[in-house]
Amino acid sequence: MTKKSIQTVAAMIFAGTLAFSCSEQNLSRQTLKSPDGMNKIILTVDDGEIYYSVFRKGEEVLKPSQLGFVLKNGTVLGTRMKVDNVSRNSFNETWEQPWGEKRLIENRYEEMTIHLSSGNGEKHYMNLIFRAFNDGIAFRYEIPEQEHIDSFVIADELTQFSLPTTDSAWWISAYKGEYYENITKHTPLNQIDTASCPVTIKTVNDKYLVIHEANLTDYAAMNLYCTGESTLNCDLTPWSTGEKVFAKAPMKSPWRMMIIADKPGDLITSYLELNLNEPCAFDDVSWIEPCRYIGIWWGMHMGYYTWHMGPNHGATTENAMKYIDFAAEHGFKGVLVEGWNKGWENDWTKEGDKFSFTEPYPDFDLEKVTAYGHSKGVKLVGHHETGGATRNYEKQLEDAFALYKKLGVNSVKTGYVSPLLDGKERHSSQYGVRHMRKVVETAAKYHISIDNHEPVMPTGLRRTFPNLMTGEGMRGQEYNAWSTDGGNPVNHTCIIPFTRGLAGPMDYTPGVFNFENPVNPGTRVKTTLAHQLALFVILYSPLQMACDLPENYEGNPAFKFIENVPVNWDVTKVPDAEIGEYVYMVRKDRNSKDWYLGCITNDNPREANINLSFLEKNKLYNAEVYRDGDGANWETNPTSVTIETVTVSSNDFLPVKLAPGGGMAVRFTLQQ
Ligand code: NOJ
Repeated sequence: MTKKSIQTVAAMIFAGTLAFSCSEQNLSRQTLKSPDGMNKIILTVDDGEIYYSVFRKGEEVLKPSQLGFVLKNGTVLGTRMKVDNVSRNSFNETWEQPWGEKRLIENRYEEMTIHLSSGNGEKHYMNLIFRAFNDGIAFRYEIPEQEHIDSFVIADELTQFSLPTTDSAWWISAYKGEYYENITKHTPLNQIDTASCPVTIKTVNDKYLVIHEANLTDYAAMNLYCTGESTLNCDLTPWSTGEKVFAKAPMKSPWRMMIIADKPGDLITSYLELNLNEPCAFDDVSWIEPCRYIGIWWGMHMGYYTWHMGPNHGATTENAMKYIDFAAEHGFKGVLVEGWNKGWENDWTKEGDKFSFTEPYPDFDLEKVTAYGHSKGVKLVGHHETGGATRNYEKQLEDAFALYKKLGVNSVKTGYVSPLLDGKERHSSQYGVRHMRKVVETAAKYHISIDNHEPVMPTGLRRTFPNLMTGEGMRGQEYNAWSTDGGNPVNHTCIIPFTRGLAGPMDYTPGVFNFENPVNPGTRVKTTLAHQLALFVILYSPLQMACDLPENYEGNPAFKFIENVPVNWDVTKVPDAEIGEYVYMVRKDRNSKDWYLGCITNDNPREANINLSFLEKNKLYNAEVYRDGDGANWETNPTSVTIETVTVSSNDFLPVKLAPGGGMAVRFTLQQ
């Protein structure tokens, strides 16, 4: 596909600059409405200070909330300011994702740019760009080139999101815990210590808000802390030296965004974050291949294999070839092999410098394995665990990607297991943000896609760099193998689609079929098997792993669902969902007329009827249903699954009956 054909299917841009010549007083209050008129932003400059507020259908969503910066040299951008002029734009385009949960995305907004300057003394300039969409609002700061600001250091960003009511939020702590791998808390806003974005809020008026950022480029990630009952304040992840951002004018901040939805499902079908990123940077994206994969992986997490070479080494040539055979037989296009390279025998979380990204262990013949894979139509999914030693990785980056390219490997899972990068800097600091971007851009040169574990929280960069395909940044399935707290809570998978999942694709690694955990008996997967199947529909990832061991899939008829389920979708809809309770989601395959339904519940059993009106009219479909068997429940009987095929049409309702921790997965195929 060419760049043109994937980017803009239809673009209509109405650019109208209205440079107002009214009095300063008139300029100091500006209003912007979304195309449908439902969302409204009001910007006011009051006594030199800048505030914005947000309304939906006339109801206040954000009270006047402050904007601005404090620079390290003491300059405050945001006091003693006046509006010099305002320009406005309307924008409307539909663009195509090369892969994703939806093919065509509408990007329609109203925009205003507020040009500000400081009133007296040394003159400083700052612009604020606001966009009002039908599904939310966004703004960013621009520090233009100017006489008195050249290179500068941001000591603090003053952005606030001041809620008028004492609402509750789903959030994880920014600084307690690592890599966003925390259990999500649901508390009143005033109990947030400092939360990573995205933060998901349910207001007392039953609105759903998600505060996040988009296009995080050469800046620090935004976290939020609460003051008073309900004012969320921006806290940028600092460098080890305390500074937040080193910048040079002209500079644009990431977008600060808020999705505004009337129901939880509308959060999932909002593409605001992607719309705030730049179009695809590549002319050709044909080398970026979504696929399902298996891997020499779960065996290590369960303690059956080791990453390092030894008697139980997982990454042997022989084992990898066995996995390739299984993948080829069951329609998987990728096999991840972890522990193939030298360095794992070190305490790699502390001595990451020892990893080599080009030298395989003697019992792993990289050339032979990749060639064998190609002969069977299966590619190796490469692996670079850095142990957080980014300098060591950057030194080897070009050679490491060149080696994989030579061997026909086109995706690499990266990892940064260490509380601090290079023993010093946080993953979500400007240091980490710079490193992760370097990896994605270097990988692109070699036509390699990235699955980024221990990442910086995604901010929609996949639109610009679609080789940034998926990542971790949440408590993944692996916690159900070894976590000492018993594993992920039963409601975990009913929450993450509305929190981390809104930031970007998740390499959660669903698909456990064997619920026994002889190594850590107190820890387990707290879902039924049918729930695991439904996760392939609900948790989106273009590189989607079926995590269990081949021997646990072999001969199980439920595996057929995983063999068929696509990873690239035309349309996504959410018939119904309640955060932390249940999720019912349907998606249409991009390469066929098939539809898929995934339903999951928390600890509560549940019944529902799904309206099948999404199916093509006047057609009959086979619905291949995988549901919790009689007596199934996550705790004592997770594996009981009933599989049946029924004939349905768009006029029907499909009954859903979910066990505690249960699920249901359905494939709809047109009858011939
Ligand atoms: C943590 C990752 O999340 C996991 O998937 C990987 O197996 C280990 N690091 C080792 O790299």
